[in-house]
Amino acid sequence: MKKIVVPIVLMWIVLLALSVLPAASAAVETDACIDCHSKLDVMSAISSDWMESKHARNGVTCQNCHEANPSDSDAMSHNGFTISPVVSPKDCSACHSKEVEEFEQSLHALGTLYYEYLFDSEKLPYIESQLEGGYIAVEGQDITHAATIRGCQACHGTNMTGKSTSDSSVWPNNGIGRINPDGSMGSCSACHTRHTFSIAEARHPETCGQCHMGPDHPHIEMYQESKHGNIYAAEGDSWNWDEEDWKAGEDYRAPTCAGCHMSSAPGVPATHDVSARLSWELESPISRRTDNTANSLGTPISDGSTWQEKQERMKTVCKQCHSSTWVNNYYEQADIVVELYNGQYEEGKSVVDALYDDGLLTKTAFDEPIEFKIYEMWHHEGRRARMGAFMMAPDYVQWHGFYEMLKDKVEIEEMAEQIRNSGGEGGNSTTPGFGAVLAAVGILGVLFVMGRRRD
Ligand code: HEC
Ligand code: HEC
Ligand code: HEC
Ligand code: HEC
Ligand code: HEC
Ligand code: HEC
Ligand code: HEC
Ligand code: HEC
Repeated sequence: MKKIVVPIVLMWIVLLALSVLPAASAAVETDACIDCHSKLDVMSAISSDWMESKHARNGVTCQNCHEANPSDSDAMSHNGFTISPVVSPKDCSACHSKEVEEFEQSLHALGTLYYEYLFDSEKLPYIESQLEGGYIAVEGQDITHAATIRGCQACHGTNMTGKSTSDSSVWPNNGIGRINPDGSMGSCSACHTRHTFSIAEARHPETCGQCHMGPDHPHIEMYQESKHGNIYAAEGDSWNWDEEDWKAGEDYRAPTCAGCHMSSAPGVPATHDVSARLSWELESPISRRTDNTANSLGTPISDGSTWQEKQERMKTVCKQCHSSTWVNNYYEQADIVVELYNGQYEEGKSVVDALYDDGLLTKTAFDEPIEFKIYEMWHHEGRRARMGAFMMAPDYVQWHGFYEMLKDKVEIEEMAEQIRNSGGEGGNSTTPGFGAVLAAVGILGVLFVMGRRRD
């Protein structure tokens, strides 16, 4: 008997040692972080949050996420360790490669690149920053970000290439497409805040509503107006938010943003690619189908499937709770809204384009009131009408959408007539612009002061 027991005991000792050793060495390093960060009361709230997370329960330590190579541009030496305060998707990908890959296919990952390189980057943010100084921007100058660090970039993300957290023009930031010092794009804590990193939080509509709100994309407001949002408000407290595989009917009764755009349905796997279920690009001036998988930067969006395939995924989500007729007809109702919008915007745009063609407007953007009107027609009212139609928000289709667009169109026509009657007053580049008037006022002021000094 003894002959068999001894080797078995020995084997257990070896197995025990093997399983304990790596964990013990990790725990030693981690204790140093936690000792200081909780017991000595250095931001102890962080350690308490972490303690509540699945990470703590699964032995994922401070080091696992914050460890850095001394050569990393964001590395800092910290009480004997080399760490980085920036934890990028690349750091998470060591354990969550599927989520990171999906996220990187989506437009979310491109939030900062788009912000920097699309039309707006050369116009709006620049002009807004310059307005502070009391004069209108001259094209071709460097962009300053005074108005945008806490504006556009708080939602879209900052570009940290070659920079570290000591640079206040890029940090702190949790924008969705933040370009990280390691080159990866995005910020997972935009939806899973440190250090609880919870799925329950990310599934709540308020999480998305932090950015998806306001006059140009009021998605959270639309949701609150929808029947789905109603049901969420009435009974969401009793739903199972933590269930890993979130099931319609069992865990929740009406979808949240995540329920439609990310969570799984039978035959449709959960995804971190929020572009994967969209058949339209509704944010652009003219709506287009999502077949064109390359965006204006030339990088591909989503997984390269056709718009019909993407639409089928979303319809499958709806069909967990609705019949095919209900869903197909709903899409038809929304599609005709998109087409109606496209036609109306083109009419307004042709009036403004004709003014440009005839040299009656300057080439500088946003220096004439009519340019704000045509911008708002697509960027505010037009988006509200189109997106409201797809997300069950009738007030946004009608009163914040088509009604405002009709008003825009009438005002655009009247403004155009006035500009033509006055031969492009204030708009023609040969007449003195706002800048020239300001300069003239400035020179007169200086002459006046000099004149008085001589007295
Ligand atoms: C001896 C105490 C001590 C130890 C050990 C320690 N920290 Fe800290 N940590 C601090 C203090 C103090 C700060 C600064 C707080 C402040 O700036 O207000 C800090 C700041 C940080 C920051 C933010 C840095 C920044 O610039 O934004 C991170 C991230 C961090 N610690 C992570 C860690 C990790 C990970 C470990 C273990 C590898 C660790 N700390 C070990 C005391 C400690
Ligand atoms: C799952 C990964 C992960 C783990 C584990 C983790 N952190 Fe963090 N930590 C983050 C992320 C993400 C941020 C936010 C920075 C960002 O957006 O890149 C952060 C930020 C911080 C900050 C800066 C907070 C501030 O507002 O200035 C400190 C300090 C910090 N972590 C300390 C710790 C400590 C101590 C532990 C262990 C108890 C820990 N972290 C564990 C991912 C992690
Ligand atoms: C060292 C490996 C490791 C790293 C690095 C890591 N995680 Fe995790 N994560 C885990 C494990 C293990 C779980 C628990 C899995 C489970 O319970 O099925 C988990 C669970 C999660 C969950 C699900 C939580 C829930 O409520 O169910 C989220 C969200 C998450 N991690 C996000 C992140 C993010 C964001 C980062 C980077 C900032 C990150 N993780 C870094 C290992 C890691
Ligand atoms: C409150 C958060 C927030 C702010 C502030 C914000 N955006 Fe956005 N932006 C968004 C969201 C959300 C979308 C996605 C809209 C959609 O797809 O329906 C978006 C879309 C865009 C797009 C369209 C990208 C595409 O795929 O065509 C551009 C360009 C853009 N924003 C630039 C800017 C600029 C420039 C500013 C500052 C002047 C700004 N944004 C301010 C949240 C924001
Ligand atoms: C736009 C918001 C958003 C962002 C950004 C985001 N997540 Fe998530 N994440 C979610 C939602 C919502 C869920 C729950 C999906 C569901 O219902 O199945 C989730 C679930 C998870 C899970 C749990 C998966 C499981 O099977 O249990 C992990 C792990 C995770 N996310 C990691 C990440 C990582 C890593 C990043 C950064 C690349 C990230 N998330 C960025 C919204 C987000
Ligand atoms: C920190 C800000 C932020 C948060 C939080 C956020 N988003 Fe976004 N979202 C954006 C921005 C910015 C864009 C536009 C990116 C671009 O076009 O480059 C966007 C775009 C989208 C798009 C359009 C993608 C496409 O291909 O046109 C969808 C759908 C979306 N988000 C869904 C969600 C959902 C669902 C959540 C919550 C689970 C969420 N977002 C949370 C900022 C955010
Ligand atoms: C009932 C399902 C459902 C819910 C809930 C829902 N959406 Fe949508 N969403 C859709 C559909 C359907 C579309 C249009 C799909 C298409 O293009 O084919 C859409 C489109 C979008 C777009 C893309 C607009 C564009 O630029 O083309 C964004 C962004 C978005 N939703 C964000 C959100 C956010 C944020 C929430 C929560 C506040 C939310 N959605 C709630 C179904 C939903
Ligand atoms: C998890 C279940 C669930 C999913 C998924 C879902 N819905 Fe619903 N939806 C409901 C419930 C419940 C109601 C309330 C029905 C009632 O009035 O009794 C509802 C109501 C509606 C209504 C009626 C709104 C009104 O004005 O009264 C429309 C339209 C609708 N859903 C469309 C959709 C579309 C389109 C999708 C997919 C993009 C979808 N739903 C996904 C559960 C769901």
